[in-house]
Order: sequence, then C-alpha cells, then structure tokens
Amino acid sequence: MSSADQTSTRGKRRAAKKAVPGFFDDYPRFLETSRTASSLARLNLRHLAQIDANKDILKGARVLDIASHDGRWSLAALKAGASHVTGIEGRPELVQYSNESMQLYGIPEDSYRFVAEDIFTALEHEDLDVDVVMCFGFLYHTLRYPEFFSKVRKLDADYLLIDTKVAPGQGRTIRVTADETAREAHAVADAYTEGTRTLVGAPTQKALQVMLRVYGYGVESVHDWGRMIKQVGGSPGDIAAYTKGERVTWRCRFDESVLPPSLAPTPEREAPPVSPVEPG
Ligand SMILES: C[S@@+](CC[C@H](N)C(=O)[O-])C[C@H]1O[C@@H](n2cnc3c(N)ncnc32)[C@H](O)[C@@H]1O
Repeated sequence: MSSADQTSTRGKRRAAKKAVPGFFDDYPRFLETSRTASSLARLNLRHLAQIDANKDILKGARVLDIASHDGRWSLAALKAGASHVTGIEGRPELVQYSNESMQLYGIPEDSYRFVAEDIFTALEHEDLDVDVVMCFGFLYHTLRYPEFFSKVRKLDADYLLIDTKVAPGQGRTIRVTADETAREAHAVADAYTEGTRTLVGAPTQKALQVMLRVYGYGVESVHDWGRMIKQVGGSPGDIAAYTKGERVTWRCRFDESVLPPSLAPTPEREAPPVSPVEPG
C-alpha cells in the first residue's frame, strides 16, 4: 500500500471514529431546509447539549421556540417529551419548511404551531402559556435586549434555555455589529433596519448574566462542551466556538431571589383605612 493510500485509510478511520451518531440522523430533511450551521455532526452535538441535557424539564412542558428557523429544535423538543411547542420565526419560507417537516415526520398537528412573524411583534399579541422558553441562536441577532427580556419575562416561564454567541472579555459589555437582513441566519428586517442592515450585539457572559438577573433569571447550569466531547467523541472542530468561550449553552431558571430588591415582589401590605368621604 502506498503512503498516500495509508494516509487516506488513516483519515477515513479517524473520520469514522469521530462521526457520532445522533438525533438528526433520523431527521435528514433538516440538512436540506437550512443553510445555517446545519452540519449533521454539529446539529447532533447541539442536540445533546440543548435538548438531551434538558429532557427532565422538557418532558410534559409547553415550549416556546424563539427564532425557530426550520423547526429542528421544535421537533427535537417534542421528541424529548414536550407536550406542545410554539415556534416563532420571522422568515415565512422557514416556517413553511417547519410545517412540512412536522408532517413528514408524523408529528401530531395539535402538538405544534408555527408563527411567521418578527419575534418582537409576535410577543406583543400572542397569548402564550409556556413552561420553557428555548432561545437558541438568536441573542446575537438583536440589540433590543431590554424589550426582548421584558417580553420573555412576561411569559412567566420557569426555564429559559439559551444557546448563543458571546463577546470575549470579563466586562459587562455588548459588542455591536451589523447583520445583513438578506441572509437567512441573520436578523429579520424591522422598523430600525437601515437599508438591509440591522444593528445587533453580542453580550459578554457577564453582560448577559446582568440582563438575565434583572428579569429574574439565574443561570442554573452551564453546559460543559469540553467534557461532553470527551465522553461522546466527535470532532473538537465542530464545537470550537463553545470550547473557546465564544459561545455558551445555559439553562436559566426563573427565581424570585435573583431579582434586584427594587423588582422583587414586596409582601402584601394592609390597605390603608379608607377615610370617610367628607360631604361636599
Ligand atoms: C442563527 S439562526 C438560529 C436558528 C435556530 N434557532 C438555531 O439555533 O439553530 C437565527 C434565526 O433567527 C431568525 N430571526 C432573526 N431575527 C428574528 C426576529 N426578529 N424575529 C424572528 N425570527 C428572527 C432568523 O430568520 C433565523 O432563522
């Protein structure tokens, strides 16, 4: 055998060792309906971190999937035992793919609903009753954080699952960039879009924690991607953003004790006595 053949055999063996079978092997249509970070290996690893690691809270839960894209995480949440998923996605063609995939994979129609609308507009009028909010791949496609988190807070969900890019550094800062709204993965155009560009941000981990805390969410667990890849195998290249600290996967829980004192509910005080109305 020539040395070139030996190298290619070694390469194939290494690739075979690193190909980790996973959830999306059974749902290959998602590899066709998105142009966004949709390598099978990466999707399978994200499934372990975002869905499998949270199946205890997804079981039986009513779920909101923010920026639901082609429905991949909505379907995964249902398969993890969620009782219902609402996906909100600003690009109608992706919502069409989502509905088609749900039908293709035989998901009961009454267990999901997709809304094709900007998340900020949808959360103004949608009447949602949810236990878990999934916010995957969205927080770096907006700069409207106070509006976003206050709307999420009003949903009164117990858990907020976050997977997001973060800016480097120890400060409480937000790195500002511009999204190109013509791109499938980027912000959808809104009232603040100038031409085709929308300002977006990537908060540092500390900045994100401050924002979460203001709205009553504490980070309950941080997914350890480095440990996971050692356990399940796979190519470290697929998750480099996570192991380099450029991306995080957090499980956040609503907890009144993390609210700053000014927002924490005060014990009900006795109503002051009503003074008799003086005759006029
Ligand atoms: C990077 S992709 C993430 C998709 C998926 N959640 C994931 O994690 O794989 C960002 C998605 O957010 C959607 N999106 C961006 N801005 C939005 C907005 N304001 N309202 C609703 N969807 C939005 C995009 O259309 C795109 O599908």
